[in-house]
Amino acid sequence: MMSVIFWGATGQAKVLREALPADRARLVALFDNRNIQSPFEDVPIFHGEPGFLDWEQTSPGHHQIHACVAIGGSQGEDRLSRTHWLRGRGYAPLTIVHARAFVAGDVQVGNGCQILAMSAVCAGAQLGEAVIVNTNASVDHDCVIGDGVHIAPGATLAGEVMVDKFAFIGTGAVILPRIRIGAHAIIGAGAVVTRDVVAGTTVTGCPARPYFKDQK
Ligand SMILES: CC(C)(COP(=O)(O)OP(=O)(O)OC[C@H]1O[C@@H](n2cnc3c(N)ncnc32)[C@H](O)[C@@H]1OP(=O)(O)O)[C@@H](O)C(=O)NCCC(=O)NCCS
Repeated sequence: MMSVIFWGATGQAKVLREALPADRARLVALFDNRNIQSPFEDVPIFHGEPGFLDWEQTSPGHHQIHACVAIGGSQGEDRLSRTHWLRGRGYAPLTIVHARAFVAGDVQVGNGCQILAMSAVCAGAQLGEAVIVNTNASVDHDCVIGDGVHIAPGATLAGEVMVDKFAFIGTGAVILPRIRIGAHAIIGAGAVVTRDVVAGTTVTGCPARPYFKDQK
């Protein structure tokens, strides 16, 4: 039985725990920078790096433990840096693929990816490190997805889409074939993206257009 820890203890942790293979992996501790309670009665929570160091001192054999970072939303940079921090301390990043996800045989999957229930990652796709393909999302053939990207529930990427690092594709968004989404871009929920999206910008609507909150 593999022991697993999660950094992050809110909704993404609930979804991820359900995706762990119950017969092969056991969640032993949670960590979160916020002073929140564990969402699970049977799993203790520790707060911040000081809490982590306290836990380490009382956990013999902790270097056999795998780690997954349950930080979702548009915080892909935090997810990746925490993955690296844990790896630097000897915790191997765990890639979680839900038993009811489809991942084609030739897909490249980076360390610490989370491929969740009913999602599909199709032939020739490449996922960087710490990518989330969330519930019922689909990544079609030959897409190239950068480190720390989050594809939210129900989002659809057509073939050959390129998503640069730390971009966030909101729930139910549709990205047309061969579009490029720049680094740190945010695609609003339900957007239909028909043109490339400049790095660091937010777009919404159908067809998607730049979103400026102050002008709304
Ligand atoms: C686009 C987005 C980033 C904007 O966030 P925000 O600036 O906090 O937006 P607000 O909630 O303050 O809404 C501001 C205005 O934009 C509108 N709006 C918000 N999101 C929108 C969207 N996706 N498409 C169209 N309009 C949107 C709101 O209706 C509101 O309009 P109003 O002022 O006329 O009432 C966000 O709404 C969004 O779509 N995020 C994706 C969430 C998601 O998919 N989460 C998945 C988690 S796993």
